[in-house]
Amino acid sequence: MLNILEVFLKDSLTPRQVVEELDKYVIGQHKAKRAVAIALRNRWRRQRLPEDLRDEVMPKNIIMIGPTGVGKTEIARRLAKLVQAPFLKIEASKFTEVGYVGRDVESIIRDLTEIGINMVKTEMSEQVQEKAAALAEERLLDLLLPPLRTASGHEAPTTEQQEQHSSTREKLRQQFREGKLDERMVELEQKEKVMPFGIISNVGMEEIEMNLKEMLGGLLPEKTKRRKIKVTDALRLLVQEEAAKLIDMDKVIKEALQRIEQSGIVFLDEIDKIAGRESHGPDVSRQGVQRDLLPIVEGSTITTKYGPVKTDHILFIAAGAFHVSKPSDLIPELQGRFPIRVELDSLGKAEFIRILTEPRNALIKQQVGLLATEKVSISFSDDSIEEIADIAASVNERTENIGARRLHTILERLLDEISFDAPEKSGSKVTIDASYVRERLTDIVKSEDLSRYIL
Ligand SMILES: Nc1ncnc2c1ncn2[C@@H]1O[C@H](COP(=O)(O)OP(=O)(O)OP(=O)(O)O)[C@@H](O)[C@H]1O
Ligand SMILES: [Mg+2]
Repeated sequence: MLNILEVFLKDSLTPRQVVEELDKYVIGQHKAKRAVAIALRNRWRRQRLPEDLRDEVMPKNIIMIGPTGVGKTEIARRLAKLVQAPFLKIEASKFTEVGYVGRDVESIIRDLTEIGINMVKTEMSEQVQEKAAALAEERLLDLLLPPLRTASGHEAPTTEQQEQHSSTREKLRQQFREGKLDERMVELEQKEKVMPFGIISNVGMEEIEMNLKEMLGGLLPEKTKRRKIKVTDALRLLVQEEAAKLIDMDKVIKEALQRIEQSGIVFLDEIDKIAGRESHGPDVSRQGVQRDLLPIVEGSTITTKYGPVKTDHILFIAAGAFHVSKPSDLIPELQGRFPIRVELDSLGKAEFIRILTEPRNALIKQQVGLLATEKVSISFSDDSIEEIADIAASVNERTENIGARRLHTILERLLDEISFDAPEKSGSKVTIDASYVRERLTDIVKSEDLSRYIL
């Protein structure tokens, strides 16, 4: 079996490929895309260095700066789907200084570890899937046709009985494989760990309960429940059970920790929310968070329940709008730890036209798809798209600039009536053109007050 890290590295995308993939979802913002693509590739390059040099190369953390709604989070989200590295996206504003009520920054690494473990576990369970499926099939056949047993005081089954039994079993196997038994019910025994003491499921408590369950592991009494379920459902559960048995958890942990340390990525969103150097009010805690972040970003060892994790080579990408505070309001030590700064451009009409139509998940495509489920077919003429983009740009200019998010509010407003009436208009066709757009929106756009509240 290939080492999973090797697989990950072999398949590493080139910067150009990364940008191409991001282009499918995010319009423009070329500098930011390039920066993350290069950072990703550098991880791969570093892995191929001789060991003594490898440890010297630190990741160059990135800070993305740009107004709200221009694609910062979107780039991170798409990147996460793209890379096969443990990836955590988290809002910096969630954290409080150590010692205060709230999440401390070390939980970033603990969460990342959890993600890495799950990732490797999933991959390994895919590798044993075939074997698990075969084992599960046998167990399922045992459920459908209990094995012959020599009950005490009775004679052992004769050869004839045995032959008959195994031929029935093979017939069942045939039927099962053809899907003929899918609906049949079987009784399945399921084990579950029960907490001996009641823990109230409060917010956040679930996590504690889960951790406790896991920690206490084998110590907890196991309760078995017999349930009647369909063959298809039973098979799914049995495959899961068998796969879990086949996976070597020690190996998973070892592999995952290595991957987290060598290729983990943390996306720290809303970093501007913890900027601000005045030391009064809530800023005390903000600055504290920044200070707490320092060792993690620079490299330290965090204890997790799977073992210590070194953060030296974890890549941090921070992002923030920075319209109130500036990057220079971050404490200098933290600024220095994000040497690559990329600015994202604010978006105008031309970008809006593309955002409406080009991305795989373009807003227009989404709306068309949603209404199609009601058998209402809507189409947008080119001039309608242009009109929408134009309105979005002008409202952004005159009120708050909320970037591409403005397109969401405008489209919702535009399609409000069609959306409401759709169930009764099943089978109809609607073409939206520029005059329809104007008719629905011009009044609102003209009045600044109205736009403020509605769009
Ligand atoms: N360049 C773009 N291309 C395509 N879609 C975009 C672009 N910029 C923003 N969007 C869309 O606008 C919405 C908001 O974008 P995103 O969440 O990335 O904003 P942001 O830059 O993180 O803003 P904030 O600073 O407020 O967090 C998303 O639905 C996203 O799909
Ligand atoms: Mg964001």
